[in-house]
Amino acid sequence: MLFSGLSEVGDDPILRVSKMYRACTDPNKVDLGVGVYKDAKGNTAILNSVKKAEQHLVDNQETKTYLSPAGNAVFNRLVQEMMIGADHPAVGEGRVSTYQTPGGTGGVRIGLEFVKKCNPNTNVWISDPTWPNHTAITKSLGLTPKQYRYYNSKRGEFLYKEMLEDLSGASAGDVVILHGCCHNASGADLSHDQWNELADLMLEKGLVPFIDFAYQGFADGIEEDAYAARVMSSRLPEALIASSCSKNFAMYRDRAGAITLVSPNADEHVKNTSHMLSAVRANYSMPPDHGAAVVAHILGDANLRREWEDEVDAMRSRVKKMRHLFVEQMNEKAPNSGFGYIADQKGMFSYLTLTADQIQTLINDHHIFFMANGRVNMAGLTEANMDYVTDAIASLFKA
Ligand SMILES: Cc1ncc(COP(=O)(O)O)c(C=O)c1O
Repeated sequence: MLFSGLSEVGDDPILRVSKMYRACTDPNKVDLGVGVYKDAKGNTAILNSVKKAEQHLVDNQETKTYLSPAGNAVFNRLVQEMMIGADHPAVGEGRVSTYQTPGGTGGVRIGLEFVKKCNPNTNVWISDPTWPNHTAITKSLGLTPKQYRYYNSKRGEFLYKEMLEDLSGASAGDVVILHGCCHNASGADLSHDQWNELADLMLEKGLVPFIDFAYQGFADGIEEDAYAARVMSSRLPEALIASSCSKNFAMYRDRAGAITLVSPNADEHVKNTSHMLSAVRANYSMPPDHGAAVVAHILGDANLRREWEDEVDAMRSRVKKMRHLFVEQMNEKAPNSGFGYIADQKGMFSYLTLTADQIQTLINDHHIFFMANGRVNMAGLTEANMDYVTDAIASLFKA
């Protein structure tokens, strides 16, 4: 029989944590696992700007006929401008295009499919650690994943020197996946100087940047967070950027994202885009409309855009506040616990520098659910649960 003989694929570790959280009946349980933003009440609410744009669509959308494999052209233009700026040199030279995809994941998938069409033997360099789907998608396409050192989660240490060392050993034409900001899972980002230095190294060695940009607005600001995408796509002749509207528009399930391609010249670009769109056609034909239509309306309407920017600022500020409050309380309750690094990290994720036994104690005895490797979603912390969480962690440091 064809459909027999497979062995079961284990649960995705993130989904396993969510399942454990849902099954737990302890009233104090805390979810620091799944990677979604939560507000001060612990809810992942729909943004007001999104609600208004959705109402606008309900009232005004006249057809639901097919779009095209490229998706919503207004969305593509506005998202591209937000990422790399309207004055990006490659735009004027006709060698950059952005296509709507089903979420950032769809962007990573289509981008890597395009890489495979260009050269099926390409190595894809992936940070250690990273968002597990980078490796999964690379492998599922039959491309070769290679790891570069990035972060030591047991010591809370960003390994920039080691990253450069490893990438110095890459070959011309290799693709390097880089997190545009808010590195998932470490929260450790490169400084502007480090991005510049990395761009120099990649240019010298002929490496191709693939920026995964899933958290624009969650590190320092919508404009500020675009630094890596702008430096890499303007200093290097070719680049890919997968971007996501899941977090910054809180439209996770609506699957709005994009893939942006920068080619070395306009002639190659025409051919390249035909391959990218044929990859879309053979996968899902065209992306879903709703999420991107909402984003396009928000970004194109000055008032709604301002309201959305304020909502992004509020999400970012709340996570920052929780990071600082966590460090403050840990410094008070367990002065030698060494969590100071968490205040400086960016976005929702950080690793707690705890042993495997300490992590299991927090999960089993205190019902604080997070990844077994120590990754926590700082957005799961609130003023209401902070004391409970820091008391529990501090208890691990008492003899
Ligand atoms: C680094 C990274 N890339 C891509 C994605 C995918 O986002 P989306 O839900 O838009 O597919 C995520 C989501 O968690 C992510 O953390």
